[in-house]
Parts: sequence; C-alpha cells; structure tokens
Amino acid sequence: MLPAHASHEPEQVVASTITEHWRSLRAERGFLGEPQGELLCDVAVRRCAQEFAGGTIAWDPVRGPHLAAADRVASRYVVVNKHRPLPQGYAPAKLREVAPGQRLVPAAARRAEALLAAAADDGVALRVASAYRSTADQAAAFRRWSRVLGPERAAVQSARPRHSEHETGLALDLLPAAGECQEFACFADTAQARWLAEHAHEHGFVVRYPEGQEDVTGFTYEPWHLRFVGEPLARDMHALGSTSLEEHLDLEPAGTYDGSQAGVLAGDRQPLR
Ligand code: DAL
Ligand code: ZN
Repeated sequence: MLPAHASHEPEQVVASTITEHWRSLRAERGFLGEPQGELLCDVAVRRCAQEFAGGTIAWDPVRGPHLAAADRVASRYVVVNKHRPLPQGYAPAKLREVAPGQRLVPAAARRAEALLAAAADDGVALRVASAYRSTADQAAAFRRWSRVLGPERAAVQSARPRHSEHETGLALDLLPAAGECQEFACFADTAQARWLAEHAHEHGFVVRYPEGQEDVTGFTYEPWHLRFVGEPLARDMHALGSTSLEEHLDLEPAGTYDGSQAGVLAGDRQPLR
C-alpha cells in the first residue's frame, strides 16, 4: 500500500528516512532497540509509523521523521521546553511519594530512591528539595523567582507554568542532606554535584540543564535538576556525551519562548498530547 502522496514520498523513501532517523537517534546503541514491525502508512491522514522496541518513529510530510514519544506527555521520553508546553490542565495520572511531601511518577520515584541510596552508600547524602509541581505551584514558583531575580534572570532559571518538567512528575531537584551548602547557588561546587554528574545515568536520570546549553534548553546550568528518562536513554546520552534531550532526540533548540503571547501559547505549533 502506498500513501496518498506516493508521487512525492513513496513508501520506501519514508522507510529509509525513518531508518536514517533511527540510526541518528543512536538506536543501535540500545535506546530504541530493534524494529518490531514493518512501516505502516495511513493513506487518509498521510502519516506513517514504525515501531521499535523502545518507541515509535512517526513520519508526516510537515515534520518528517520524529520520535512519537517525545510528544506524549505521559511518556518518559517527553520533551517539555520553551517551544513545547504541556496541554492545559495536564496532571500525571499517578504519583508516588519519594520523600516527605515530594512526589514523582511511580517509575521515577522508584529509581530516585535507588539513586539516593547509592549516593548515600558512597558517602554522598542528598535530599529532595523539589519534585512534582502542579501548574499552580509552578506559576507561584515562577512569580517568586521573578520577584527575587527580576524578569530577565528568572526567564533563564525558572520555567513559566505549563513549560516546566516538574509538572510532568519526571523531574526533581536535589541538595546536600547536610553541610554548608544548602542552596542551589553553591551546589555546583559540592561532592553531591560531582556524584550526580558521574552516576545519575546509572539510575535512569540525566542532568537536564548542562553548562553552556542555554540556547538549546532555554535554561542556565542546573547541576541539581535531574530528569528521569529511563536507563537505556540515560546511558546512551552519557556514553555519547550528548548535552541535552533536544540534541539527542534531534529536536529544535528552544532558547526562548518564540512568538510568545505572554508565554501561555508559545510553541503550540508542536502541542504535546
Ligand atoms: N528550573 C527549571 C527550569 C524549572 O523551573 O522547571
Ligand atoms: Zn528543577
């Protein structure tokens, strides 16, 4: 079966575009795994997709090939940034406590507990400073940082509501459990920050906002902010030295809220589902 646009994009061209994208996502290194089926095309809506062990690569004539899970808000591969807001009213279906008053989605909570235990075994005690935040909590955090830092610095340190990974239940901020440094400003120089940079990937987390990537991620260096993506992707990113999810998943850089109308609808050209 050929798609409706067969004269422009015969199925084998779509198939090889998808294969190329799969290779460029370093699938053969583990993250997406092997193909699980043939390329399937829906003629009526001009979309094709192929399933791999770790996710589906979809194709449409406007976007070309892309990792479908990066657009799905309930997926561990979702990418939320200044171009990719969460849907209005989104809240995770299930959350689990990871520390008193701090919650994450269950898989992330289990792995975060393992990470905290492994760090403690290495003599590096950490505490959870912040985990899941509702959109209302994120709005309050953003207003607070805007007052403290002023609007320009707040824009690169705190996400506007609907634009924070904390609203997905997949992200958490850590601080030393004891010792002199008890705030984010001094965290980069601690043994805890060094431990996270070296070991977070072993537990399925990535340091989401590395140094010098503000033009891509939209935010300055946050060595305390971990994002759960699962071990295969975290290990791939670490092994390959990928600096951001945007880079690793071949998504456009999101340095600013482009075309923003007070932020709320910015980037809705790629709505997450
Ligand atoms: N500080 C991070 C970027 C957030 O507000 O989600
Ligand atoms: Zn954070």
